Amino acid sequence: MRSLSVWVPVALAAVVFAVPAKDCAHKVKESVPPPRGWTKSAPAPADHVIELRIALPQPKFSELEKHLYEVSDPFHDRYGQHLSKEEVESLVAPEAESIHLVNEWLASHGLIEDHLSRSPAKDWVTVKVPVSLAEEMLKTEYHVWTHDATGDAVVRTTAYSIPEHLDSHVELIQPTTMFSRMKSLKTSFRINDAQEKTALVPADAPPISVPSASGGHVDASCNQTITITCLLELYNAVGFKPSAKNGNQIGITGYLEQFANKEDLQLFYADQRPDALNSSFKTILINGGLNNQTLSEAGAEANLDTQFAYGLTFPTPGTFFSTGGRPPFKPDVLTPTNTNEPYLDWLDFVLAQKDIPQTISTSYADDEQTVPESFAKRVCNGFAQLGARGVSLMFSSGDGGVGDGEEDPALQQCFTNDGRNATRFVPLFPPACPFVTAVGGTIHVPETAVFFSGGGFSDVFPRPAYQELAVTKFLDTLAPGTYKGLFNPNGRAIPDVAAQADLFRIFLSGRPVSIGGTSAAAPTFSGIVSLLNSARLSKGLPPLGFLNPLIYAIHALEPTAFNDITVGNNPGCGTPGFNATKGWDPVTGVGTPNFGKLKDIVTLDLLHIAGL
Ligand SMILES: *[C@@H]1O[C@H](CO)[C@@H](O)[C@H](O)[C@H]1NC(C)=O
Ligand SMILES: *[C@@H]1O[C@H](CO)[C@@H](O)[C@H](O)[C@H]1NC(C)=O
Ligand SMILES: *[C@@H]1O[C@H](CO)[C@@H](O)[C@H](O)[C@H]1NC(C)=O
Ligand SMILES: *[C@@H]1O[C@H](CO)[C@@H](O)[C@H](O)[C@H]1NC(C)=O
Ligand SMILES: *[C@@H]1O[C@H](CO)[C@@H](O)[C@H](O)[C@H]1NC(C)=O
Repeated sequence: MRSLSVWVPVALAAVVFAVPAKDCAHKVKESVPPPRGWTKSAPAPADHVIELRIALPQPKFSELEKHLYEVSDPFHDRYGQHLSKEEVESLVAPEAESIHLVNEWLASHGLIEDHLSRSPAKDWVTVKVPVSLAEEMLKTEYHVWTHDATGDAVVRTTAYSIPEHLDSHVELIQPTTMFSRMKSLKTSFRINDAQEKTALVPADAPPISVPSASGGHVDASCNQTITITCLLELYNAVGFKPSAKNGNQIGITGYLEQFANKEDLQLFYADQRPDALNSSFKTILINGGLNNQTLSEAGAEANLDTQFAYGLTFPTPGTFFSTGGRPPFKPDVLTPTNTNEPYLDWLDFVLAQKDIPQTISTSYADDEQTVPESFAKRVCNGFAQLGARGVSLMFSSGDGGVGDGEEDPALQQCFTNDGRNATRFVPLFPPACPFVTAVGGTIHVPETAVFFSGGGFSDVFPRPAYQELAVTKFLDTLAPGTYKGLFNPNGRAIPDVAAQADLFRIFLSGRPVSIGGTSAAAPTFSGIVSLLNSARLSKGLPPLGFLNPLIYAIHALEPTAFNDITVGNNPGCGTPGFNATKGWDPVTGVGTPNFGKLKDIVTLDLLHIAGL
C-alpha cells in the first residue's frame, strides 16, 4: 500500500525550493457552470487541508485497451491471457517528462518527494496541502459550497488553472470541480414481519414453472420473498458446488460507512443457507474505512450485498472492502480530508495488490452528469486495468429508471449540467463506464422488469463495439423521434444484464427485513459470475475477466443462455422510460442469467463458440 506523507509547513520548505517557475503563465484546465442544487457560501478556510490528486496522462492507454479487448474477446486466440500487474502498470505509466515537469512545479511550491505519494504506475501523484497553497498553485479560490437539500458542505471551486507548459502533462486535478454525491442503490426498504412470508403463501402452494430454456420451477413463495434458494432455482444453478480451494474468490465493496455485520450473516445463513453457518468473510479496510460490528451499526446495503453474494457462492472465500473518506464533510474540521469520490481510493488500493478477487460487486453510483468528465474517464480507465488483469466488475445500474429516482423536483437532476438547463435522462456512473458490467433489475416470477431499473445511454462514453449490434437493433425498434434530445443514441448503453432486484429477505440488526434495489441485482449477478469462475478455475481455465464482449457474443449466438425480459419499463424524468423488449433493451440488458447454459459455454473451449 502507498505510504501517506504528512504535509509540512510550506513557509519552511519554500525557503529552500523557491523556483521562479510558479510565476509563469497559467492556463485554465477545467471550468464548470455553478452546480445545480449547491450554494456557494463562505471562502474556504485558508488552513483547511485538502488532498490534491494529480493525474498524469497515460500515453499508452490505447495499447492497454487493445490488450484488454483481445484477452476478453472469446473469438480471439489470446482470450483469457490476462496481463500481470507489472504489464498493466507499464501500459498506464506516464512519460518521464511529465513526472519531471510536475515534480519541478510541485518543488517550486515547496513540495518535494517526501510530501508526495504515488500510485504504483506513477500515473497519480497525491499531496496534502492547505487551501491557501492549493489556491496559489491552481490560481483559483476555493469556497465552502452547501448542498441545498441536505445542508452538507464541500470545499470546491468551479475553475482551476495550471502553468501553461504543464497542460499536456497533467490530465486533471481534484478535488476542484467535483460536486457529485455518491449514493447507495437501495430503493426500497421495508421492515417485514417474519410471519408475512408464510401468511401470504401456503406451504403447499404448487411451484411456479419458469418459462426459461432450463424449464425449471421455483417455489411459489419466491414471487413474494427472494431467498438464496429462489435465485439458484430461477437462474438454474441448483446443485452446483463451487470449490473453496481452487483459488476463486468474490469481493464486495462498501462505502458511505456501510458496515457488513457478521452476526446478521449467521442469522441469514441459519435462515437460508444452513450449510454455510460459522463461515465468515475477510474484511479489508481502505483509507480509514471501518466495519463496526455493533449490531445496531449494521448497514442495510452492506448486509444485503454480503449476505446474498456470499450466500450464493459458499464456500467461495469472500472479501468485504470497506473504503472510508467520502464527501461531503464538515469544513470546520481542520484535519486532512480526502473529499474525492472514494472509487479512486479503492482502485488505488486494489490495483496495488497482487491477489484480487476475480469477481467484484459494487452497489454505489453517482449521476453521471455530476462527475467531471475527465475524472469519470480516468476512473473508468482504472476499471479497465482491473479487467485486463482478469477481474469481472459488476455495478448496479441505478434505481431511478431513466431518471435519478428523486421524486422531489427540487432534488431532481433531469437537466443538463452545461448551463443550458435542458431536460435530459440521467445515466449513472460507474455503470456507464464501458469496462464494467451494469446490472439492471427484475421482479416477480415469471420475471418482469422492475420499474426502477436504471437504464439509458451515457453522455460521456461512446458506444463500445461489443454492444453495437444489440443496441442498434433496439434503437431501430423505437418510433422515429422517441425521446429526441433526452438521451444520446450514440452513447454506451446500460444495463448489460439484469437480475432480481426486489423483495430480498435479509437480516439487519438481528431482524429479518425485506429490501430491494438494483443493489440486490449486482451481488446476485456477481454470485452467478463467481460460480462460473469457479467452474472455470476448477478446470484449469483462467477466470472470465472483463465480461461484456463475452456477454454480447453469447447473446448473439446462444440467446437462451440469458432469460430475455420482455415485460415492463423504467419510468423517470416525467416519462414512461424505455420498454423491456425482445433482445437487448435499456431496462434489463440481454436479460437474467441461465447458469447451467452459461457454465456449459464457458467451460468448453470458448473458441468453439464460434461454431455454435
Ligand atoms: C407473481 O406476482 C405478480 C404480482 O403480484 C403477479 O402478477 C403474478 O401473476 C404472480 N405470479 C404467479 C405465478 O403467481
Ligand atoms: C457451527 O458451530 C456450532 C458451535 O460450534 C456447531 O454446533 C455447528 O454444528 C456448526 N455448524 C456448521 C454448519 O458447521
Ligand atoms: C461501534 O459503534 C458503537 C455504537 O455506535 C460505538 O459505541 C463503538 O465505539 C464503535 N466501535 C468502534 C470500534 O468504532
Ligand atoms: C432549470 O429548470 C427547472 C425546471 O424547469 C427549474 O425548476 C430550475 O429552476 C431551472 N434552473 C435553472 C438554474 O435555471
Ligand atoms: C412502450 O410500449 C408501449 C405499448 O406498446 C408504447 O405505446 C410506447 O410507445 C413504448 N415506449 C417506447 C419508449 O418505445
